[in-house]
Order: sequence, then C-alpha cells, then structure tokens
Amino acid sequence: MKNIVILISGGGSNMAAIVKTAQRDQWPRTLGAQVAAVISNKATAGGLEFAREHGIATAVVDHKAYGSRDDFDAALAAVIDRFDAPGAPVLVVLAGFMRILTPGFVARYAGRLVNIHPSLLPAFPGLHTHQRAIDAGCQFAGVTVHQVTAELDHGPILAQAVVPVLPGDTADTLAQRVLSQEHQIYPRAIAELLQK
Ligand code: GRF
Repeated sequence: MKNIVILISGGGSNMAAIVKTAQRDQWPRTLGAQVAAVISNKATAGGLEFAREHGIATAVVDHKAYGSRDDFDAALAAVIDRFDAPGAPVLVVLAGFMRILTPGFVARYAGRLVNIHPSLLPAFPGLHTHQRAIDAGCQFAGVTVHQVTAELDHGPILAQAVVPVLPGDTADTLAQRVLSQEHQIYPRAIAELLQK
C-alpha cells in the first residue's frame, strides 16, 4: 500500500477533494494507495478537523517552534517518515502548504513530492497569482500540478487546467473558479501518478 501524506496550512479544500475522491474511487483497492496522514504547520488549519472526521491520522509541526528552515524540515520529515516503509513508499502531496521547503527536504522525497499552484506555470510563480494575472491583462488563468524541485513553483508539469478571466473579475472571484478546477485536477493527477 502506498501512503499518501498531505501537507496543508489552511482550509484544506484540495486535501478534502483528494480524500473524497480516494474514498469514492476506492483507491486502496483500485490503486493500492491510501491517504495515511494530513500534516499541518498550523494547529488552527481547518482541514485538520475534516481529516480527523474521516479517520485520517493528523499531526501538527508548527514552524514557529523551530529556529531554522532546516530544523523545521527535519521535524516534518520525521513525522512523514512514520508513514514511509520499504514496500510502502510515501507520496507527499502539498495542498495549500505555505512553507518554502529546503533543497534537502525536496531531495529526500525526489520524484514523490507534488504541489498544486494556482497559475498556469511557468507564469506567476509565488504569491498573489490571481491579482497578478488580472493586472497583466491575462485572458486566461488556471492551475498547475507539478513535481516539486528545489526551485519554488517549478518542476515537471503533471496537469493543468485553464480558466478564463472574465470582465469584472476580482482576485477572489477568479480564485474561486480556479479552486473548483483545482479540486478536479489534483485528485486526477495523483491517481495518474499512482498508476505509474
Ligand atoms: C489553493 O489555491 C492552492 O493552489 C494554493 O493555496 C490554496 C489552498 O487552498 N497553493 P486549500 O487549502 O486547498 O483550500
């Protein structure tokens, strides 16, 4: 059984979409994979409650408790590795996880670390993607699922969805439409990755 560990920082709607799809499509039986744990760097992350209600192990690794990124990433990896075993490798899924990871952490999970970013990468890496797309006069925005490499919001693209920018769109209205596409493509991209 492959163990999916999802890292969140907030509401966790992408995490919830993955959990619901895994249950609906019976991933343990059909893909030999289960959502084993949800880890947050914030104790207040709303998604933790959803995970608990769905019988998924949860953990909090508070970045504020660590003096350096290296120390935080080491603590995070120690929790993730509880779900990693020979023959049961972990797939680490970043879903609204708002921390920059060190190259050492990325290397440790190379090839089994994925992220979702709310823009059509390579356009608009970083924050405030929706406002930046509107300000640039883009007619299309969207979302990208990609393998994580040491460079922020780069790495091989696994899936994308395009969302039109409509007249009068604000960052919030655009974000909502992009988010509903995120919920479609992230579970699908993970399922495809698990089939490889
Ligand atoms: C999503 O737009 C994701 O792409 C971005 O942060 C947001 C997280 O939303 N990185 P949620 O926590 O999955 O609801």
